[in-house]
Amino acid sequence: MSDIPVSDADLFDDEARLDPYPIYAELRDRGPVVLMARHGHYALPRYADVRTALMDWRTFSSARSVFVDEQMNANLEGITLCSDPPDHTTMRSVLGRPLRPDRMREITPTIEAEADHIVDRVVAAGRFDAATELAEHLPMAVVATLVGLGEGNRGKMLEWAAAIWDVQGPANQRFQDAMPQVEEFLAFAQNDAVPGRIDPDGWAAHLYQAADRGELPREKCPVMMLDYVTPSLDTTILGITSTIALFARHPEQWDLLRADRSLIPHAINESLRIETPVPQFTRVLTEDHEIDGVALGKGSRVALLYGSANRDERKYPDPDRFDITRKPSDHLAFGRGEHVCVGMHLARLEMSALLERLADRVARFEIVSEEPLINNGLRGFKHLEVTIS
Ligand code: HEM
Repeated sequence: MSDIPVSDADLFDDEARLDPYPIYAELRDRGPVVLMARHGHYALPRYADVRTALMDWRTFSSARSVFVDEQMNANLEGITLCSDPPDHTTMRSVLGRPLRPDRMREITPTIEAEADHIVDRVVAAGRFDAATELAEHLPMAVVATLVGLGEGNRGKMLEWAAAIWDVQGPANQRFQDAMPQVEEFLAFAQNDAVPGRIDPDGWAAHLYQAADRGELPREKCPVMMLDYVTPSLDTTILGITSTIALFARHPEQWDLLRADRSLIPHAINESLRIETPVPQFTRVLTEDHEIDGVALGKGSRVALLYGSANRDERKYPDPDRFDITRKPSDHLAFGRGEHVCVGMHLARLEMSALLERLADRVARFEIVSEEPLINNGLRGFKHLEVTIS
């Protein structure tokens, strides 16, 4: 049995949030499993181990939640993201209904019309913030409306979501600062986002209708709202903004995409691989388990470092190079297995609608200024001002 290397790195301090990649590379070098001493959990930094863990929910359980702080984990147990079959299967089948590929076909015309509208606007402006003026548009105009929590609460959804992502890390200052917003959102979900006060045709209302038909326990509905609000906006906004930044820095890749539109799905995968918006979730071992000759005890919390796995040189040669002809459809930015992102078809639809239209109209992106987002659960840009030609 090998000893487990210990790392003193804090993946949640500002420096690591700004640039986690040197730390990830060091963790991958140290071994298949590393003890992250600051926060008292283990981490899997290599692709093969993360993928194997994702495919084995019986051993790597989500039921004791998938974040870092144990108090927060106890509070959020039982949402779809934090459950195992059979509960997970029941919740996911209801939650995933409006996100199935056939339902995506119904909303494609709306997404395309909104993509036309926003691309016209930014092209006319010539200079714009790719995060707030371009990337936010589709998630806010289409997805927030589909969730259906009411016009007045749409603006709040981004703040609530960012706060929930911040409490997915350890109880650092960012976590503490986010708590009032998290409490406000939980109270809203419990007391205000109830039938009669939300759009009866929205995804949120459909949860209650499923409960009325006996498909779900009714007490699950408020917490399942978190499953819609938290992951549906920022993730995609960050994915779109990082994609623009990557193309601004690699104009030859943009030329490739403009010359061959069949590369768009591969460009989306490559962008999510190299700048993974959700860098990690955790699991808890349901039994003693050995990973590549390293023994871990039952009850250990293990972080699956998606952001590191996606840059593992054992899997992707020259992993720091952005190359849209690489076609990395097996990246782990959407997870894998039982909990694989249920919104990935929607995210891909939004991203490709924008890239199609930008490819028609934009020859070059130039970055004027940038501000990274520092959040405990997400990675990307808060602002990215660009000019286009
Ligand atoms: C680029 C955009 C996105 C990224 C990078 C992303 C990432 C992820 C990841 C990594 C997971 C796996 C969680 C795990 O391993 O435990 C996940 C699950 C999930 N995602 Fe996404 N996501 C994106 C967009 C969306 C959208 C648009 C929605 C729409 C509602 C969504 C809803 C969900 C839900 C509900 C789950 C939980 C699924 C389950 O536990 O079975 N995501 N996402």
